[in-house]
Amino acid sequence: MSERRKLIVVSNRGPVSYRREHGERVLRRGGGGLVTALRSLVVEHDVTWIASAMTDEDRAVAEEAGGEAVDERSHEGASYRLRLIAHDESAYDWYYNVVSNPMLWFVQHCLWNLVYDPNIDPGLHHAWEEGYVPVNAAFADAVLAEVEAEPDSAVFFHDYHLYLAPRMVRERRPETPLVHFVHIPWPQPDYWRVLPPPIRRAIHDGVLACDLVGFHTTRWRRNFLRSASDLLGADCDFEDGTVDYDGRRTHIAARPLSVDAAEFDELAASETVLALERELTVARPEFLVLRVDRTDPSKNVVRGFRAFELFLDAHPELHARVSMLALLDPSRQDIPEYAEYLGAIQRAARRVNDRFQQEGWTPIDLRIEDNFAETVAAYKQFDVLLVNAIFDGLNLVAKEAPLVNERDGVLVLSENAGSHEELGEWALTVNPFDVEGQAEAIHAALTMPREERVARLDAIRAHVRGNDVTDWLAAQLADLDRLTAPART
Ligand code: F6P
Repeated sequence: MSERRKLIVVSNRGPVSYRREHGERVLRRGGGGLVTALRSLVVEHDVTWIASAMTDEDRAVAEEAGGEAVDERSHEGASYRLRLIAHDESAYDWYYNVVSNPMLWFVQHCLWNLVYDPNIDPGLHHAWEEGYVPVNAAFADAVLAEVEAEPDSAVFFHDYHLYLAPRMVRERRPETPLVHFVHIPWPQPDYWRVLPPPIRRAIHDGVLACDLVGFHTTRWRRNFLRSASDLLGADCDFEDGTVDYDGRRTHIAARPLSVDAAEFDELAASETVLALERELTVARPEFLVLRVDRTDPSKNVVRGFRAFELFLDAHPELHARVSMLALLDPSRQDIPEYAEYLGAIQRAARRVNDRFQQEGWTPIDLRIEDNFAETVAAYKQFDVLLVNAIFDGLNLVAKEAPLVNERDGVLVLSENAGSHEELGEWALTVNPFDVEGQAEAIHAALTMPREERVARLDAIRAHVRGNDVTDWLAAQLADLDRLTAPART
C-alpha cells in the first residue's frame, strides 16, 4: 500500500448525491463503475472529492457551504471532504446533454452513423463554448482553490467530461501533480476527425497537461498515442508510452480497473440478495442467459435480443427451457438518442416475445430498473452472461458477475469490451455486429461440458481476485509517485 497522501479527486458524478424525502435530506450513493472503484481511495487517503451538484438538494448543500467542501463519511465510515459545484443550469445542460453525451461519448464509442450524424452545427459550437468550456473552467477553479489550501495535493481527474480542466489548472499551478484517467475507449485518430480541429486539439491538449494519463487497455492507450501524434504532432514513444508536447512529458499507462471482491462476497451472502435469489430460482427456467447494462446504445442490447431470437430459431428443442433476463438500468433519458434507444430495446424484446412465448414461458424477461441487489442475485444464477458491447472502455459486469456465480456460468464477451484484453482467453469471444455468431456462442455456452465451464470460470475468478480494485489504486499512485518524485525533492 502506498503512503497516505492528499488527493483531490475530480469527477462529474460524485460519490453521493442528496435528495429531499418527506422533508428530510437523504443521501444516496452515486452509481457507476467509476464511483464504486474510487470508494476505497477515501479509506486510505485524505480525499477531497470535487463533483457536479446534480439534484436540487445537491445545489442546496453547495449553497449552504458557500461553495466550499462539506465533511462527509463513506459507507465504510471513513471521512472525506466533498465539494459540490452548482453550475449554471443551461451551461450544465450543454456540457452534459449535448457535448459529453452524446457527442464525445458517441465519438469515443464509434457510435455515429456518419452518413447522417453528427452535424456540428451552431448549436454544438454554442454548447462547446457556453457549456463544456465554462463547466470545465468551474472545475478548474474549484481544484485551484483546494490546491491553494493544500499545496501538497495531487489531482486525479476522471473521464470525458473533464478534458479541458487539467490544462486550466496546469497554467496556474505548473508543479501540481495531475493525473487523468479515461474510463471509456479512445478511438483511432481518424474517428476524432469527426470533430472540428479546434475542438479535437483542445481535447488532446487538455489531457496532455497531466503528468500521467491512464486507460483500461493497451488498445486505448495505443490509440491515444496515435492521435496525440497525428492530431497534435506530439512526439510519441509507443514503446515507453510517453508523449513529449508543449515542453513537458506525459506518461500514458494501461491499468485495467477492477472490482472489490470482498464487497461482492459480502453482498452475495446478504439477506436482501438471498431473498431476491430465492424469488429468481423459483421463477427461472432450466437455463438462464443474463445481461446487465445501462440502457446505453454502446451496450448493443438490441443486437443481443436479435441474437437470442436467432438462437431460438435454430434450437426449438430449447424453447421453454431457456430465458434471457435483461436487467437494464435506465440511463441519460434527457438525451434524445438515449430515449429512442430505450424505445428500440422495448420493441426488440416485444418482437421476440410475441414470436415465441408460450403459456408459462416468456423468452425475454426485460426489467428496466436500477436494482443492484437484484443484479447480484442474478449474477449468482446465470448460465450464460452476455456482454456484447459495440465498444466499452472496460465493462465491470464481466468481472463482477463471474466472481459470485454459482452455476459454472460461461462468459460470452465482445472483442471490443476493454475487459476482453484480460478475460478473453477464458470467455467465448463474439464480434458485436455478428448476431449469428452471438447466437452460436449462446448455444455453445449452454452445451459446454461442465469441466470446461468450471475451468474457465475459475480462471476468471482467480484473475479478478488477484488484481482487485485496491491493486488498481495502488498502481496508479505508485506511478504518480515515481513520476513526480524528482519534482518534489
Ligand atoms: O466511464 C463511464 C461512466 O462515467 C461510468 O463511470 C458510469 O458507470 C457511467 O459512465 C455513468 O454515466 P452517468 O454519470 O452519465 O450516469
